[in-house]
Amino acid sequence: MQDLSPKPGDLEPIETASLDELRALQLDRLRRSLRHAYENVDLYRRRFDEAGVHPDDLRELSDLARFPFTQKSDLRDAYPFGLFAVPRERIVRVHASSGTTGKPTVVGYTKADIEMWSDVMARSLRAAGLRAGDMVHNAYGYGLFTGGLGAHYGIERLGGTVVPMGGGQTERQIALIADFRPKGILVTPSYMLNVLEAHLAAGIDPRETSLQVGVFGAEPWTDSMRKRIEDAFDMHAVDIYGLSEIIGPGVANECVETKDGLHIWEDHFYPEIIDPETGEVLDDGEEGELVFTTLTREGMPMIRYRTRDLTRLMPGTARTMRRMEKITGRSDDMIILRGVNVFPTQIEEQVLATPGLAPHFQIELVSDGPMASMRVLVEASPNEADAPSRAAAQAELANRIKTMVGVTAEVQVGGPDSVARSQGKAIRVVDRRDRS
Ligand code: DLL
Repeated sequence: MQDLSPKPGDLEPIETASLDELRALQLDRLRRSLRHAYENVDLYRRRFDEAGVHPDDLRELSDLARFPFTQKSDLRDAYPFGLFAVPRERIVRVHASSGTTGKPTVVGYTKADIEMWSDVMARSLRAAGLRAGDMVHNAYGYGLFTGGLGAHYGIERLGGTVVPMGGGQTERQIALIADFRPKGILVTPSYMLNVLEAHLAAGIDPRETSLQVGVFGAEPWTDSMRKRIEDAFDMHAVDIYGLSEIIGPGVANECVETKDGLHIWEDHFYPEIIDPETGEVLDDGEEGELVFTTLTREGMPMIRYRTRDLTRLMPGTARTMRRMEKITGRSDDMIILRGVNVFPTQIEEQVLATPGLAPHFQIELVSDGPMASMRVLVEASPNEADAPSRAAAQAELANRIKTMVGVTAEVQVGGPDSVARSQGKAIRVVDRRDRS
């Protein structure tokens, strides 16, 4: 793999500023953001008043804990534009998440917000090792999803050449990668597995492609998956995190030279970790739910937004800003089986550690009397699809899940192509429980 470490002058001054400098900037911005929200959004004014807090009560960063949380249902209740803090005419773009139930959640951006987003996204790509002049293949979906356009503007801001491919049409993707010779690819890690398969099916050695770095996010993925992709393509795989409610992709990104967690761009997004049950703020290092407050967002400031994502905060390394550990999962995706909590990422690790299996999987929850039980659908690697190999892989995966994760799962090893392929964010859990 190529050395993509930054050279002197590659980084913005704030990325290596002193902690004191960063904290002072955050305090100043946080005060302004709270005031902006309080003065311009009914919901915040009402909530702050009910909680008996006023933006002037924020004297130090830790005072933020006195302010009320915001959550996804608040966006739904305010559908479509109720959380905008500026007249609708000043909003230059909206994005929306489809949402599996009920109304979508809508987010709005002013011109200044798009500028800030482009900046943090360009910073993320730089952290990943990309530079001005690089060709970047963007396979995040364009449209209402923030992935495609967010990445697109970031590549342009970086000074790169963007290939606005979007999701799907996998054969076309690999033809463009072969012809345009991009240095970077931006896509969900699960879809990258399809890109990998398509290379193999076309008889192209993935290690011979021009790709040197992939910036993968929008869904949880593990270090085992990183290794699988890095080995297959002889490229770096780094993690990018973000969510529409806060801005989109580019809230946090791993640095290619360390790959030790994602640096949160704390000069724009202030993180806290809370106990999801009590709402109490936890110390850095403790695992809990990630909460963000936007510091510079104009069109739709978010105050203490509960992401439902579980992780922990760690001190900065390659940058001054704190890091978050790779997301374990969303609290919504947590499966509880006879009292044991299970996340799809734990199953991913075991699938990838089992010889003879392809890296695709899906979990089905099925009824087992009044309880739930778990079925894991996987498939044999194309060259190990005979019955004895499949039986061996099935026994090994079931055993690994039992000993490493601590639950009993029924494992089904299908033939090649039997597990649904991801077209963007993978659907890891399908609930087939009887509801009658
Ligand atoms: O997924 C934004 C994005 C696009 C991020 C492209 C990275 C790359 P939403 O559709 O609003 O936005 O979904 C946000 O996706 O709360 C997490 O649960 C999950 N997620 C995003 N990035 C990661 C990641 C985009 N790197 C939700 N690791 C978030 C784990 C992630 N989960």
